[in-house]
Amino acid sequence: MKIIAGNWKMNGTREKLKDMITALQNVDTENKMILCVPYTMLSIESGKASLGAQDVSTHDHGAYTGEVSAQMIAEAGAKYVIVGHSERRQYHNETNDIVRQKAEAALSAGLTPIVCVGETMDEKQAGKTMEIIESGVRESIPNDIDKAVIVAYEPRWAIGAGLTPTTEEIAEAHKLIADTLTSMGLAGTPVLYGASVKGSNASEIMSIPNVDGVLVGGASLKPDDFIPIITSVK
Ligand code: 13P
Repeated sequence: MKIIAGNWKMNGTREKLKDMITALQNVDTENKMILCVPYTMLSIESGKASLGAQDVSTHDHGAYTGEVSAQMIAEAGAKYVIVGHSERRQYHNETNDIVRQKAEAALSAGLTPIVCVGETMDEKQAGKTMEIIESGVRESIPNDIDKAVIVAYEPRWAIGAGLTPTTEEIAEAHKLIADTLTSMGLAGTPVLYGASVKGSNASEIMSIPNVDGVLVGGASLKPDDFIPIITSVK
């Protein structure tokens, strides 16, 4: 069983989500299907899939105009929330410390956070990939938790770029993440790969050791692109 999660980013409509959910009803799979969609779509009946949000406030309520709390997200019907996505880190200056607070907020409301880590092109070229990944995992995941989290490795330079790391690079990153999680007492935490996943590379990527699923951006928006990814693996 793999976890196949879509990240719709700021795309789609409620009607398009309903169409996707209808299409997923006919997919014969044991894999776990998650769609992380804009807040305005979270109340839609999600059928065989589960819904997630894409960000959450670190606060639980109060004078924070424009923010949405974990409790509100849960109340709307979501089970998951992405925290620390590359685009949040890039455009909203989210640090590992902020991401950890968001993950804590999610957990306290009963949501499963999907915690994203990954290196930029500058960090990769400076030979810092492993250091960034390990500190991302150690600093973005709350300590002493006994609840489920999911980690997503997203090499930031590869997102939306049609680029993917080599099989060896993905294997090395995922082994480091799995080992780091084990040393934190979180052995068995699922680790997803994300960046330029599509139907043609999904099964190869998910056959790499320690890759427990994928987090898909652009190719999760249309059933014709997303369903082949879901059915590419058992
Ligand atoms: P793409 O699949 O479009 O590269 O996006 C990946 C991503 O950011 C998923 O969260």
